[in-house]
Amino acid sequence: MRSEEPRAVRLADYRAPDFLIDTVHLDVNLAGPETLVVSRLRLRPNPAGRAGVPLVLDGDALRLSGTPLLDGAELDAASYAATPTAFTLHEPPADAFELTLTTKLDPAANTQLMGLYRSGSAYCTQCEAEGFRRITYFLDRPDVLSVYTVRIEADRAEAPVLLANGNPVESGDLDGNRHFAVWHDPFPKPCYLFALVGGDLAVIKDDFRTASGRHVDLAIYVEHGKEERAAYAMDALKRSMRWDEQAFGREYDLDVFNIVAVSDFNMGAMENKGLNVFNDKYVLASSETATDADYAGIESVIAHEYFHNWTGNRITCRDWFQLCLKEGLTVFRDQEFTQDMRSRPVERISDVRGLRSVQFPEDAGPFAHPVRPDTYREINNFYTATVYEKGAEVIRMLKTLIGVDAFRRGMDLYFARHDGEAATIEQFIACFAEASGHDLKQFLLWYSQAGTPEVIVTEHWDASSGTYALDIRQHIPATPGQTDKKPMVIPLAFGLLGSDGNDVDLGSDGRVKREGLIVLTSGEHRFEFRGLKERPVPSLNRNFSSPIQLKIDLSDNDLLFAARHDGDQFNCWQAMQSAMTRLLVTSAKEIREGGKPLGEPRIAEAIASVLNANDRDDAFAAQFSILPTETDLTREIGTNVDPDAIYAARRGLKEAISAQIQPSLLACYSGLADQGSYTPDAKSAGRRSLRGVALDLLVVGGGDEAIALAERQYADATNMTDRMSALASLSQVDHPVRERAFSDFAERFANEPLVLDKWFALQAAIPERGTLDRVRGLMNHPAFSMGNPNRIRSLVGGFASGNPTQFNRPDGAGYEFLADVVLELDPKNPQVAARLLGAFRSWKTLENGRRALAEQALRRINAVSPLSADVSDLVTRALA
Ligand code: PHE
Ligand code: ZN
Repeated sequence: MRSEEPRAVRLADYRAPDFLIDTVHLDVNLAGPETLVVSRLRLRPNPAGRAGVPLVLDGDALRLSGTPLLDGAELDAASYAATPTAFTLHEPPADAFELTLTTKLDPAANTQLMGLYRSGSAYCTQCEAEGFRRITYFLDRPDVLSVYTVRIEADRAEAPVLLANGNPVESGDLDGNRHFAVWHDPFPKPCYLFALVGGDLAVIKDDFRTASGRHVDLAIYVEHGKEERAAYAMDALKRSMRWDEQAFGREYDLDVFNIVAVSDFNMGAMENKGLNVFNDKYVLASSETATDADYAGIESVIAHEYFHNWTGNRITCRDWFQLCLKEGLTVFRDQEFTQDMRSRPVERISDVRGLRSVQFPEDAGPFAHPVRPDTYREINNFYTATVYEKGAEVIRMLKTLIGVDAFRRGMDLYFARHDGEAATIEQFIACFAEASGHDLKQFLLWYSQAGTPEVIVTEHWDASSGTYALDIRQHIPATPGQTDKKPMVIPLAFGLLGSDGNDVDLGSDGRVKREGLIVLTSGEHRFEFRGLKERPVPSLNRNFSSPIQLKIDLSDNDLLFAARHDGDQFNCWQAMQSAMTRLLVTSAKEIREGGKPLGEPRIAEAIASVLNANDRDDAFAAQFSILPTETDLTREIGTNVDPDAIYAARRGLKEAISAQIQPSLLACYSGLADQGSYTPDAKSAGRRSLRGVALDLLVVGGGDEAIALAERQYADATNMTDRMSALASLSQVDHPVRERAFSDFAERFANEPLVLDKWFALQAAIPERGTLDRVRGLMNHPAFSMGNPNRIRSLVGGFASGNPTQFNRPDGAGYEFLADVVLELDPKNPQVAARLLGAFRSWKTLENGRRALAEQALRRINAVSPLSADVSDLVTRALA
């Protein structure tokens, strides 16, 4: 815990390390509060660093034990200094030398869950970004790559399983019921990829043969009794390994691949070399306990961590500013994997939904930062949607711009050229420039300029000459620290729809780079298409080719036409969203002026026609029928936001749709009855998701019949997806059935923490005045714990980020509640405390009353001392 303001680290100040560490020998003796780590480092001066400087190793809350050794001999006290945050060797040898340091740790007391800690009865580690320095003194920076050999010793009964990175070398019994295991990882790696696990865990095993014939033993370690729930994760792992060979030519490179699921974990999962450690939420699934969304989450996180083996591990980041080099790229890879496993357009829609609901608001508020930030005070706060999801969009644009083949050549070149290195974004982009012959200098602006570009389009149709023109202007809003922005490269996939619904042949405009692709490079462009017989309906940014805000004023007729006919399924969905968004924004405005929520018969009709279609794609139909979220509307409105009006507008439209197309909804719903045996594949998941959407609309429409339907679905459900969708629908209505269902659920799943997380989150999201008290009460529920990040995220995060009307209560009680929780949590787990503050990312767009109250809560946090670097950094930025 740091009490003073953390100092800013700047990309421009990067300097190569003064020393390198070639090998690391760790000897870890797991022994409760007396746990000892002996670290033997082979160091040498870095030819690229400064000569003759002291050696300063990083530490965080460390305690040195015994006297350090230099080349085997004890150091005298004057030659070194050890504090909790640094070990300094004043005059290190000019050549290679060996330093041996011992630290003493108490893993059970480590509530930050960074470094070596306990989760349940197991010992485990989390080192990214700067957790290794909480285990031993080290050059804790990603450009110091070393070969590790790790010996772990523990009580045989307490920790029969002992794992570390790389391949197993040796194991055996010792006196006093103790045993040991030695692991060796031949691939040089930065210390953030170090991991070890020791515990009493169950395991499921499988194997895999790589394309070139290497045999790999696969294992997933879980709590005893949960073995069966790891089967889907294992299946996803094998599919990921095969896919990376086929799609990117990347094979696995060790003899074993181990995954360990733990229940206390700050993030989703961690890609430690050969030993991925997972939040058990992203491993464990059974049809009774996990929803389709959970299965999909497991598939994509398993894939994500596995793909890091090449993008992150074999090639890592030079410094933490380059975080997107591994994260944006790996998200892109896992999104492509999911699209190949499931439905391309539907997955694209769901990724864009995610981007818009989290990254766009981040990019529009006080926490906005470039995909590659150039300064940070706490790196933990940069594991953001901007680095991850916008980072993935940037890679996707690159592929769109240079084409599939050049993209693959660029990736191949990157792997060949930088394998074993710690690289930068410039080095990565250079590979694509070389492979494609494109000049990508301007493209690099995507990494340095924050803010979502607005692309403003106006159309001109000249019937007499048959000329259709698009004037396209780009504008990048100011973001913290960046007021003047340069125009960016924006690839717009597009088509022009004729009245028959097909794309018209594009007249020739020299600047249409490829069939269906416009590339913006300057602030303003005009594109002209000649020889058209009628005014077309434009379909721009198809498949969301760029992560922009497209502003074009199309009529409802145009939008509803595109929603039905656009050849690009993403844009069918988008057109529908645009039509609904416009209506809802107007409706919210009228509600604030005392009016009633607006309906629009043609929107309901469009939904009905998709539901009734003979060749219906269930998953797509579900997406098509879901209204823009409250967050989407908040961002769209932008200033002077009243969350209650937005909620009322949205609810009103749902009610109107429900009333108008009830027969279609009922027919659709009953046509999708539960078919019994559950499989998590995309097609059956799509079926269940449409069933859920239909039920939700029916229930919002009110009426005891619909509620009875939901109650029946809840009670008869043979899988968690159907049970949850029924409960979610019921949670939106203030009716006795709701409480009955909630208590039944609590009883049924009393011993299933991951399932109760769903129960916490649903209750936290109830859009009613009583919810804050309910949440306060649930914090005393026996299943809740402030020590477990998943519980906190479900209940507190569910309230703060999943309940716009109640978090933003006009009396400010929601803000004060969050401030209380953040202040209580900060001394224990600053990383999770800071994450909760994400709920304030759009506070400046609120109407005056709420804005003043939100500011007051933020100021109250800011006034407390000491605050962690994590919380202090975010609060300062929020208030700046
Ligand atoms: N690197 C992890 C991932 O994206 C995320 C993570 C970051 C996990 C920091 C733990 C701590 O796969
Ligand atoms: Zn990652």
